[in-house]
Amino acid sequence: MPKKNFPLSKVYQLLEPGPVLMLTTSLKGEANVMTMSWHMMIDFTPPILACVVSDQNYSFNALKKTKECVLNIPTVELAKKVVEVGNTSGSKVNKFEKFHLAEEPASKVKAPLLTECYASLECKVIDMKMAAKYNMFILEVVKAWTRPAKKAPRTIHHCGNGVFVVDGDVIKLPSKKK
Ligand SMILES: Cc1cc2nc3c(=O)[nH]c(=O)nc-3n(C[C@H](O)[C@H](O)[C@H](O)COP(=O)(O)O)c2cc1C
Repeated sequence: MPKKNFPLSKVYQLLEPGPVLMLTTSLKGEANVMTMSWHMMIDFTPPILACVVSDQNYSFNALKKTKECVLNIPTVELAKKVVEVGNTSGSKVNKFEKFHLAEEPASKVKAPLLTECYASLECKVIDMKMAAKYNMFILEVVKAWTRPAKKAPRTIHHCGNGVFVVDGDVIKLPSKKK
């Protein structure tokens, strides 16, 4: 069967990115959290990644001003809260209270770690040259935390419009050691 035209407006749904994240910030002592799925790795050591935080989001200003955040990685058990957080602005609401999200202090940044997430990455913004044009921030992970007891964490991956793929089978193939 020949391939058919695919709407450009849906291309992002084909390029399913890595796990959906919950990005926390803290501006003048006030923490906020948003859901974020548009991110990509750029380098290994130190770990550097790019992420897109729309300037329509309350978090944009906090990230721009403080130049730091935490990327928290939720598993499927948290999916409902992830979507709720991603559909609510922190401009007037304290999402930690509204969605009963427990937080704990990070070690190198002011933004909090989300307790329920199985991993948290403390990040510093190292480049904002593309923030004005593309809402893109380049982050360096300066401290990483995981919960070792959490075996085979099943992360969620956004396909658009409330649809997610949940991590499933793991396969291992021979590969050059890094
Ligand atoms: C599954 C999902 C993924 C999202 N990914 C992004 C993203 O990558 N970048 C972005 O700017 N907003 C993204 N959003 C939207 C923000 O999370 C949403 O606008 C949120 O309300 C912003 O919160 P804030 O205004 O408190 O910063 C996503 C929302 C959902 C539900």
